[in-house]
Amino acid sequence: MLPKVIEIAKEAGELIKNNFGKSHEIKYKTNVANIVTETDKAAEDLIIKFVNKNFPGHGILSEEIGMIKGTTEYLWVIDPLDGTTNFAHGLPIFVVSIAVLKNNQVIYGVVYDIMRNVVYKAEKGCGSFANQNRLSVSKRTDLAKCLLATGFPYDVAKNPSNVFNKFTAFLRKSRAVRRLGSAALDSCFVAEGIFDGFWEVSIFPWDILAGKLIIEEAGGLVSDFNGNKIGINTKQFLATNGLIHKDMMKILNEN
Ligand code: IPD
Ligand code: CA
Ligand code: CA
Repeated sequence: MLPKVIEIAKEAGELIKNNFGKSHEIKYKTNVANIVTETDKAAEDLIIKFVNKNFPGHGILSEEIGMIKGTTEYLWVIDPLDGTTNFAHGLPIFVVSIAVLKNNQVIYGVVYDIMRNVVYKAEKGCGSFANQNRLSVSKRTDLAKCLLATGFPYDVAKNPSNVFNKFTAFLRKSRAVRRLGSAALDSCFVAEGIFDGFWEVSIFPWDILAGKLIIEEAGGLVSDFNGNKIGINTKQFLATNGLIHKDMMKILNEN
C-alpha cells in the first residue's frame, strides 16, 4: 500500500506545484487568517477519488471535507496542502501529508515536500526515509544548543497568552526557534535531526499524524504536553529527539 500512498501524494503535489505562483481564489474559514484556496480543494478531490477507486471501503478524514466513514478498519487522514498561507503568498514551503491508520494506529505516513521534491515516508516498524535516505533524530541533549520549531494556531489573536508565553520561554532557553508554516514539514525536520524539537498548542490530526510515525520511526518521541500518546483527537503536539522531551514538557507546563 505504501507505494500507492506515495503515488497519490506526488500526484497531488504536482497539481499544487502547477498552481503555485498563480492568482488564487481565497476563502476565509474561521477568520481572515485562516484561508483555503481552490488548490487545497482540487488536491483534496484528487486524493479522495484515488482512495475511493483504489481502496473502496477505506474511511477518510480530510481537512476541508471532514470525515467520510468507511466500512473497513482503515482510515486515511489527509492534509491535501499543509502550508496554505505560504502557498497563497508565494513562499515555497508547503507539503501534502497523508497518514493511513488501521484500527486507530498509524501504519503509513507520507509527507511530500513539493518544491524540494522530497518524499518523507514511514511504515510502522520499518524506519523512516527522506527519498532513499534513512532518517534519525538528533542527539542533542542541552536545550540551550537546540534548534526548535513551532506553529501558531489560527485563533492566536484571540488566545495570545497561551501561545506567546511558551514561545518566549523557548526563545530564551534554546539556541533559536523557527516558524515555517507547515506542521507536517516541521515534524519531518525533527525526524531528520534538523530540528531537535517542535511544539504546537492547538493542532489537528491531519497536520501531525503522518509526521508522528515518521518521527517515531526515526527514533524520536511524540506526545501531548503531559506525555500522553497522540491520537486522532489530540490537540497539543510535542515532538522531539526524545532526549529533550522532559525539559520541553516542563517548560510547556509552566505558566
Ligand atoms: C497549518 C500549518 C501551520 C500550523 C497551523 C496549521 P494549513 O496548516 O501546519 O504551520 O501552525 O496550525 O493549521 O492550514 O496550512 O493546512
Ligand atoms: Ca495543516
Ligand atoms: Ca491544509
